[in-house]
Amino acid sequence: QKLDIELAAIEKGGFDHFMLKEIFEQPKTIFDSLRGRLDLDKSSVTLSGIEAIEDKIKQARRIIIVACGTSWHAGLMAEYVIEELCRINVEVEYASEFRYRNPIITKEDVIIAISQSGETADTLVALENAKEQGATIFGLVNVVGSSIARISHAGAYTHAGPEIGVASTKAYTAQLAVLQLIALKIAKIKGTISDERFNTLLLDLAEVPEKVDFILNNQVENIQRIASKYSGAQDALFLGRGFNFPTALEGALKLKEISYIHAEGYPAAEMKHGPIALVDENLPVIFVATKDSYHDKIISNMQEIKARKGKVIAIVSEGDEIASSLADDFIVVPNCNEVIAPLLAVIPLQLLSYYIGIERGVDVDKPRNLAKSVTVE
Ligand code: G6P
Repeated sequence: QKLDIELAAIEKGGFDHFMLKEIFEQPKTIFDSLRGRLDLDKSSVTLSGIEAIEDKIKQARRIIIVACGTSWHAGLMAEYVIEELCRINVEVEYASEFRYRNPIITKEDVIIAISQSGETADTLVALENAKEQGATIFGLVNVVGSSIARISHAGAYTHAGPEIGVASTKAYTAQLAVLQLIALKIAKIKGTISDERFNTLLLDLAEVPEKVDFILNNQVENIQRIASKYSGAQDALFLGRGFNFPTALEGALKLKEISYIHAEGYPAAEMKHGPIALVDENLPVIFVATKDSYHDKIISNMQEIKARKGKVIAIVSEGDEIASSLADDFIVVPNCNEVIAPLLAVIPLQLLSYYIGIERGVDVDKPRNLAKSVTVE
């Protein structure tokens, strides 16, 4: 038994939990997912899976993204980024709904399936159905040789390595990184992006691993302090807009998965249509408020929460004094292009959930009732 305990400690690489180890691996796993694909010297993106279906992509009138859970959140971010850069309609579907609601699928449809395990039953069956109807299936999968990888016509792997923690962290950011590359690649194929914007985004994407490293090296104590301040909360609200609306959803999912605190993610403005009724001095409201084109809008949403005595915790860009002065507590992330911001903004939310889960005594690597891979309906 002693040997088992020692082996487990070695596997965790000096960290208390797999989840923390995996959070800290992200500079490397994001780098690995970009490596060999993003080429700054040639100013290009190489993705053989996309090249293999280039003609289908050119003809496609829309892209349908199919996924579950955290992977679905990655898909939602991809909708914002692909529509912005590639000017093609994107629909994001929960696999479980897509497979049962008799969706309209044609030979012109390109489906991107996102799955860490590559074995999620609903995603797999949704793809089998779509494939039968002639759609082109592109799989974005972490586990090499998994069922979804095998039934796809083409695909790309995320290079996150094995993810042991049930709540997904490094697989999510690897998905976001490759989805950014996919968007840039499709934008080039379709000619919808200027060379200047392409190069700027490429450069910004290449800088993500070191910026994630910066967050991990500079914000952990601050996040631990915030976690212990709010660990007694019964509910939490996560708000974001635009590219970071999916980040708010993912932040809420992470918190509920590993702390058992009831949490909801909402588009910040939509908060007025319901959740605002819950705001009182006991409700922590976590704003993903990094600098972007609609920054002033989220600032006014923060003021609305403050006016109702809610506690505001904000993820802010470095140097943003307006957002940080409005917040009760804030966590700083480095500046970057708004399109890429979700890759940075989610890191503090993962850590916040982790430390709140620990404060509450939850087995964060294996939260109750959850499975790493849901292979039954
Ligand atoms: C389960 C896991 C989640 C994951 C989801 C989809 O619910 O606990 O972390 O996001 O399945 O899994 P997949 O392997 O398809 O990404």
